[in-house]
Amino acid sequence: MKSVSSLRETTPPPPVHVAIIMDGNGRWAQGRGRSRIEGHRRGMETVREVVKGSIELGVEYLTLYGFSIENWKRPAAEISSLMGLLRLYLRQEIKALDQRGVRMRFIGQRPLLADDIVSLIEEAEEQTKGNTALNLVVALSYGARQEITAAVQSVARRVASGELDDSTIDETVISQHLETAGMPDPDLVIRTSGEQRISNFLLWQVAYAELVFIDTLWPDFSQEDLRDAINEYHRRDRRYGATG
Ligand code: IPE
Ligand code: IPE
Ligand code: MG
Repeated sequence: MKSVSSLRETTPPPPVHVAIIMDGNGRWAQGRGRSRIEGHRRGMETVREVVKGSIELGVEYLTLYGFSIENWKRPAAEISSLMGLLRLYLRQEIKALDQRGVRMRFIGQRPLLADDIVSLIEEAEEQTKGNTALNLVVALSYGARQEITAAVQSVARRVASGELDDSTIDETVISQHLETAGMPDPDLVIRTSGEQRISNFLLWQVAYAELVFIDTLWPDFSQEDLRDAINEYHRRDRRYGATG
């Protein structure tokens, strides 16, 4: 039998950045004859577990896709319940997250969110900015094409003003103009619910991420599923275009 210390030596380090497309709340609820919002409520409990699991596993960045810019197309009643849950989560969890050493950040189009939610987000970012146990990035009202478009606009403005020479625009410059500036790109993207698509999530940043699609619906996703996905990640051979 291996000793604990030799096990530790042979366990590869976790992916630095795990990003999750948390999908399947509605189907989880519908399968039980419950309202979709009940599925979202259960999904919020999964978020708590996954944050805990990520800290335990030593993940440094966890990005959660909470609400896409396209999700604004949903019925007003569902949006309003989702925003209500978000308010609740932010009010209830910030203190506990802060105590666990979680630094919170938000990406996505804030002007589309209600003023009080924007205030809660800003408070959470301010209150947790010194924490280092886990960087929790929540994508709200987020769309990658919109993020890239905004980055192009801001680079164009800097070129027009003479602050930036167009010949110096490279991948680093583009990355620095995205909302994720300064963060490492995701190593692993997990999507639950059996759908195998990216749905406008971090399109630039996932260029070389490993993608793991699992059938489990988000409310049923567990710390063990997170570990399984990370184990799957470790079995992959990341070649980045080079030979193995
Ligand atoms: C994910 O669950 C949560 C959000 C997109 C806000 P869904 O609400 O998309 O659940 P399904 O895909 O309809 O089952
Ligand atoms: C993606 O899920 C967005 C989030 C998980 C927040 P959707 O349920 O909105 O994606 P599609 O519509 O199935 O692509
Ligand atoms: Mg969905």
